[in-house]
Amino acid sequence: MSGPVADEPILSVRNLYGRIAGQQVVEDVSFDVPATGVTALLGRNGVGKTSTIKSILGLIDRTGEIRLAGERIDRAPTHRIVQRGVAYVPEDREVFGSLTVAENLRLAERDRSPRRELVASLFPDLEARREQRAGTLSGGQQQMVSLARALVNENRLLLVDEPTKGLAPRIVDEVADALAEAARTAPILLVEQNLLVVRRLAERVVVLSSGRVVFTGSAAELLDDHDRVQRFLGVHDEREAA
Ligand SMILES: Nc1ncnc2c1ncn2[C@@H]1O[C@H](COP(=O)(O)OP(=O)(O)OP(=O)(O)O)[C@@H](O)[C@H]1O
Ligand SMILES: [Mg+2]
Repeated sequence: MSGPVADEPILSVRNLYGRIAGQQVVEDVSFDVPATGVTALLGRNGVGKTSTIKSILGLIDRTGEIRLAGERIDRAPTHRIVQRGVAYVPEDREVFGSLTVAENLRLAERDRSPRRELVASLFPDLEARREQRAGTLSGGQQQMVSLARALVNENRLLLVDEPTKGLAPRIVDEVADALAEAARTAPILLVEQNLLVVRRLAERVVVLSSGRVVFTGSAAELLDDHDRVQRFLGVHDEREAA
């Protein structure tokens, strides 16, 4: 086969199994992430969303077929997957609290020409706080640092895990704005519990239950179906989940 195929997904996951400490936490998961826009990975607490992302990155034991733009990455070690342009924004932000914002960003730079201007324009609030220690920032600001650390490099795919968790509504909107901008630079697989954010950002959704996929399809189709939202996600509507 030669050259990129039109409409080829950036990520294709087939029959993925993941294990933590001998326990099966991802079971026969298959889905695609299109080459543009935001795909949301949904499901109740503990269903295996984070484990699915960690399996893709090779951070936990996995088997199955995983392709990045058509090329197999399921045998590749994590650092190779990252080198190929897969960025990870983890669930608990993981900024270096004792380092300044500027130091956090500099440590994340991997490319020869890091996208410093892009990051500065996306996160003006961080620009103003470059010399502040990241540990003294608010939760929302730390989330911005974590996103900025991913966006400073050129990415083919962003894996973003619960970026709005625990944030005040106004800050949730700011993080969602940043993600909308980020999605213009690379496709995103987004784990997100706030269904208002999902409706705003995601075109497609993949829903997990007990480590398995129970729905894939259009975000609007799922979110307009209150029965399925209740069954899969355990909430009645977006306001309740917000
Ligand atoms: N380090 C670990 N050791 C043992 N079991 C784990 C570990 N991490 C996760 N698990 C188990 O794996 C399953 C899936 O967890 P995972 O964190 O992937 O779910 P999640 O959908 O991301 O949940 P949440 O919504 O709470 O973030 C759960 O049953 C969890 O208890
Ligand atoms: Mg999780």
